[in-house]
Amino acid sequence: MKSRKPILAGNWKMNLGPAEAGLYFQQLETLLSNDPTRSLDSERVIFPPAYNLGSEIQWVAGKCQVQLGAQNIHWESTGAFTAELSAKALKDLGLNWALVGHSERRQLFGETNQTAGKRLLKGLSSGLRVLFCMGETLGERESGRMETVWAEQLTSYVEALAKHVASDQANDFSSRHAPVAYEPVWAIGTGKTATTEQAEEAHRWIRNWLSEKLGATFAEALPVLYGGSVTPDNAAALLKQPNIDGVLVGGASLKPESFAKILLA
Ligand code: PGA
Repeated sequence: MKSRKPILAGNWKMNLGPAEAGLYFQQLETLLSNDPTRSLDSERVIFPPAYNLGSEIQWVAGKCQVQLGAQNIHWESTGAFTAELSAKALKDLGLNWALVGHSERRQLFGETNQTAGKRLLKGLSSGLRVLFCMGETLGERESGRMETVWAEQLTSYVEALAKHVASDQANDFSSRHAPVAYEPVWAIGTGKTATTEQAEEAHRWIRNWLSEKLGATFAEALPVLYGGSVTPDNAAALLKQPNIDGVLVGGASLKPESFAKILLA
């Protein structure tokens, strides 16, 4: 029996506008309330586009016990950073979550380990819980560089946490504030999920590596989520693995029917 409470998250990317989002949560509420096995032994988060983060949609999402989070945050509080989002302002809006370092940010928009780490630090110091995404490309896996890439990505995570913990904003900090999402790039949006064995192996590696850097207590309590073509058909098997503590779902989170099945998996 795992002691870590699962985190079931959806990443809508640049899909669903405000009207669709409102309808989505109404439908999700119906789907969840119709199910007698409904349980709340997990945390639920959706990362919608920024125009769906306002209080009205927070309210309808809240009726399904779903929290909302931003898909990205900047490392400064304010300033001349066109199109970026301030973690502090998001917190003021009533939000508790942000995502950083998603592979689409890394591959399409020049995100680096360094900038992902800076965003993580800012989110934590602004009082947000930050889901830190990492994972190798197919080329990195096939050329045997996978563990080196993971270590480089996690080094920026560890450095950000070390700075946060050394600051005076870290009073009640725990590993639940900074969960990790392992998302192999070759499995994102491709329909090609990592096998449960591949995913579990990566998660075990991540936990062991972080245990060496940050201590066993931190690593044992850390939620490590899997992402990459998660569907209602494979979610339960992934979630049964000893080191998989949740999922980050892209495509299958866009339909309330399929996301409800994953929430109930
Ligand atoms: P996918 O996306 O489930 O559509 O593969 C996952 C993600 O990008 O977080």
